[in-house]
Amino acid sequence: MSTADRLLTPGWWPTKGSESRDRYVGSTACAACHAQKVETQKITPMAHAAMPANAEMFAKSGNTSPLTFRAGSYNYEIAQSTASSTYSASDGTESVTAPLDWVFGSGHFGQTYVYQQKGTFYESNLSYYPAIHALDFTTGHQRSAPATLAKALGEPQNPDTIRACFGCHTTVATTSNRFEPSQATGGITCESCHGPGAQHVAAMTLNEGNQTSSFMLNPASLNPSDSVDFCGACHRTSLDVIQMGIRGVFTARFPAYRLEASRCWGSDGDSRVTCVACHDPHQPLVTDVASYDKNCLSCHVLSAASKPAKDHPGAACPVAQKDCVSCHMRKYNIPEMHADFTDHKIAVHKRGDSFQE
Ligand code: HEC
Ligand code: HEC
Ligand code: HEC
Ligand code: HEC
Ligand code: HEC
Ligand code: HEC
Ligand code: HEC
Repeated sequence: MSTADRLLTPGWWPTKGSESRDRYVGSTACAACHAQKVETQKITPMAHAAMPANAEMFAKSGNTSPLTFRAGSYNYEIAQSTASSTYSASDGTESVTAPLDWVFGSGHFGQTYVYQQKGTFYESNLSYYPAIHALDFTTGHQRSAPATLAKALGEPQNPDTIRACFGCHTTVATTSNRFEPSQATGGITCESCHGPGAQHVAAMTLNEGNQTSSFMLNPASLNPSDSVDFCGACHRTSLDVIQMGIRGVFTARFPAYRLEASRCWGSDGDSRVTCVACHDPHQPLVTDVASYDKNCLSCHVLSAASKPAKDHPGAACPVAQKDCVSCHMRKYNIPEMHADFTDHKIAVHKRGDSFQE
């Protein structure tokens, strides 16, 4: 399903903005009973998907001195003081400046700046890319100096677009269908995924564990397609990607779309090949290649001597018996983003193979 359609159906779904603010309690309230999950979730990149732009945030990215960039006749600078962060461009005679409000992106792949002028939100024309330790043009923006200094800093965003940015990168920016970004909590929290927790906390505090309803969405109960769509609320579902009209290597950014196109997924999916089969959303991403072997071998037989069976429908690999993802889930570089993305279309790749649609 598309995320737009999901949001029209009753019940909780990530990025939904219809719940009222007083129904949210914040992650610290969960720590009393789910301490372990709170401890590890807060160090994930998702928990830092957007942060207020301040000196502490820049220091975390390792950027304590001003960032500079030259495009055409403009000199750009992003400077931080304890009081504020400012973003400016100068053509040598005149300059334009904006105080930054938010930094989007944890800094794993890149960071884009968001600021407000005369009630309109702007997305910065420049982003910081850790792979090159420098600023460069933001993905999707014109890759040369804008014609006038007035347009040098960023692009105005329409209200729906900016509301969607905050919906995927922060918590409680929109409640009771009202967008109030000044009230947002930066990053993805427990309640971004599970929905507002006040009722659950109250019920569990009164009568721990003995409730007929938990008042919380537990995505473990979703069928494989719905489970993948759940992560797709922000990472985009297959249908979202088709509706956006994105093709080619840029789709490597969208794991659900690619995963569901692989033969391992089959026609209706399988709980052994959902996002949560391979990723614990309460833990940082695992980068040890060998640790994913167990996922592949939950379906594939290990040796060519064994034949696929009902509980192991996948054939054996004629080439190797370990480190499966190193060959079958290739990383592709998206040059504009200065980043490599993992192609979730599990497949056989020939040496030098280019991206398979
Ligand atoms: C007072 C203790 C307590 C607090 C506080 C608490 N929980 Fe729970 N939570 C529990 C218990 C106990 C269960 C197991 C209930 C059950 O088995 O149905 C549970 C179950 C859950 C489940 C699974 C629900 C299901 O239907 O299977 C989720 C999701 C969850 N909690 C999320 C949260 C979040 C998010 C917060 C903070 C907003 C939170 N909890 C705060 C005690 C608590
Ligand atoms: C539908 C949900 C969604 C919307 C809307 C959205 N993002 Fe994202 N964004 C994501 C997800 C998921 C990722 C991580 C995967 C990726 O890079 O595609 C991401 C990645 C990023 C990154 C790279 C950060 C990193 O380290 O991975 C930046 C910067 C960013 N988004 C900024 C923005 C800004 C600014 C807007 C609004 C103009 C926006 N996003 C709108 C979901 C969204
Ligand atoms: C509310 C929106 C939202 C939902 C729902 C969501 N994500 Fe994310 N996720 C993001 C954003 C935004 C990022 C980019 C974080 C950053 O700035 O680096 C991200 C990043 C990630 C990363 C990359 C971590 C890294 O090391 O860079 C993984 C893995 C991930 N998400 C897995 C999942 C899984 C699995 C699910 C479903 C259980 C899920 N996400 C659901 C918004 C979301
Ligand atoms: C990115 C989305 C996401 C975030 C953020 C998130 N969860 Fe979960 N949570 C899930 C999913 C998906 C499952 C089901 C996991 C599964 O099927 O294995 C789950 C399961 C649970 C359960 C059920 C028990 C279990 O282990 O199956 C509890 C309790 C829970 N989460 C609490 C929390 C708390 C507390 C936080 C905040 C610290 C949190 N979650 C943050 C997606 C998320
Ligand atoms: C069969 C296992 C598997 C499944 C299923 C899976 N992933 Fe991954 N994912 C990986 C591996 C392996 C990596 C790369 C880890 C590394 O960097 O070493 C990865 C990386 C990622 C990243 C980091 C960015 C990148 O492109 O490297 C995100 C975000 C992500 N997965 C999200 C998802 C989501 C959302 C789903 C469900 C649609 C999903 N994954 C399903 C194995 C899986
Ligand atoms: C839910 C079960 C399941 C899981 C989990 C799974 N696969 Fe598969 N996979 C299959 C099935 C079924 C096929 C199609 C029959 C066959 O080729 O064996 C397949 C096909 C393949 C193919 C052939 C693809 C093609 O286009 O011809 C490769 C390669 C593959 N899987 C590798 C992997 C790797 C690597 C992993 C772990 C990252 C994995 N699979 C996880 C079930 C699964
Ligand atoms: C060194 C790279 C490499 C590693 C590691 C690797 N494979 Fe393969 N795999 C290949 C190549 C190359 C082929 C295609 C062989 C051919 O067509 O002759 C292949 C083919 C396959 C096929 C298709 C078999 C068929 O009969 O159609 C499956 C399924 C598969 N691999 C699964 C896995 C699994 C599961 C693992 C981990 C246990 C794994 N592979 C590890 C390179 C690798």
